[in-house]
Amino acid sequence: MTAALGASANVVSPVRPPVPRSAGRPFTKYLVPEVVFGWGALSEAGFAARRLGAQRPFVVTDAGVIEAGWWAELAGHLAEVELCPTVWQELTPNPKEHEVAAGVRRYLESGCDVIIGLGGGSVIDAAKAIAVVAGNGGRILDYEGVDKVTAAIPPTVMCPSTAGTGADVSQFAVITDTTRRLKATLIGRALVPDISVTDPRLLTTMPDDLAAATGLDALTHGIEAYVSLAAGPLTDVHALHAIELICRSLRRTLTHPDDVAARTAMAQASLEAGLAFTNAILGATHAMSHQVGGLLDLPHGVVNGVLLPHVIRFNARSSPGRFVPVARAMGLDVTGLPDDVAAGRAAEAVARLAADLGCPSGLAELGVRDADIDTLAATTLGDACLSTNPRDAGHADVAALFRAAL
Ligand SMILES: [Fe+2]
Repeated sequence: MTAALGASANVVSPVRPPVPRSAGRPFTKYLVPEVVFGWGALSEAGFAARRLGAQRPFVVTDAGVIEAGWWAELAGHLAEVELCPTVWQELTPNPKEHEVAAGVRRYLESGCDVIIGLGGGSVIDAAKAIAVVAGNGGRILDYEGVDKVTAAIPPTVMCPSTAGTGADVSQFAVITDTTRRLKATLIGRALVPDISVTDPRLLTTMPDDLAAATGLDALTHGIEAYVSLAAGPLTDVHALHAIELICRSLRRTLTHPDDVAARTAMAQASLEAGLAFTNAILGATHAMSHQVGGLLDLPHGVVNGVLLPHVIRFNARSSPGRFVPVARAMGLDVTGLPDDVAAGRAAEAVARLAADLGCPSGLAELGVRDADIDTLAATTLGDACLSTNPRDAGHADVAALFRAAL
């Protein structure tokens, strides 16, 4: 751990640095679910489902969460409020469109009325996708893009078991299209869960590699949301606080896995980064990462950790000032430094953190080949996350970024 990253910092800049390329909108909108947060909050999940009118909850989860005992605990809490759930767990990391279709069939057969996601981002994205198709028909990939979900969907309660994806509060779902070999992004208010129940206890059973990957994902959410063209004062405060909490606590959750304060800080960071990015959207790191993840079925946060320093340097060439508060939030002393130097320090610190957490130094170690770059760059241009990147990026720019990160 570097001393600089461990230091605390006053992260709220008294004057909000301008967003570089005007989005032409003097206003922002802010979507947020009902949030239940705190140590032991899983005990509220049954009441949350009841508040949404549940008679028969459909619980989406996975084998790791069941093995850790969280499904058994949730089933007990549901029984306390006289709810008898159906559980479904037939999905893999980076959920695929055919898995969603199977989940929809099971949901419709079950006669259930509320969907509960208990797990990491893959579980929660699959739970959202099942709700979308159950309410709207067709295939999940029919709803790729922005605001394509128009009919009502079953109410949802999301209980995250990782600190990173923010899917429990976000208006995003990401589903792997196995035909095109890319990740399809769905965005819209219909995808905002009704209730998010965040219990930091659930983080204590995460494997270390998952804690590292999801923590890097949360850091990427905070940084991309802060510099996004759609950023605003309501998202800035959460983005910067998430960055600060992650840089203080992520390494400690790995060296001291039973540290309650560090786990709680990471749960809060994930939540706050989620609130920031669901409203400010993301940027080139995610637009590129989705393509790599679709091609090679890799951990999303690890790919972000490799790409993010390169994207920071690229974006800082047009808007270095926005990265100064980011560097401060990371605990870096950038007093008196020119903005571009401070931005470079932030990029270096992200690369150091990713390396310390075991990320490879380049995409080649993850299996990406130079021959893949043209296709990856082409599909990146179609990803919705690129539209809020603070610097315009065409095919040549994105290809150069992939090559630099190789
Ligand atoms: Fe992400």
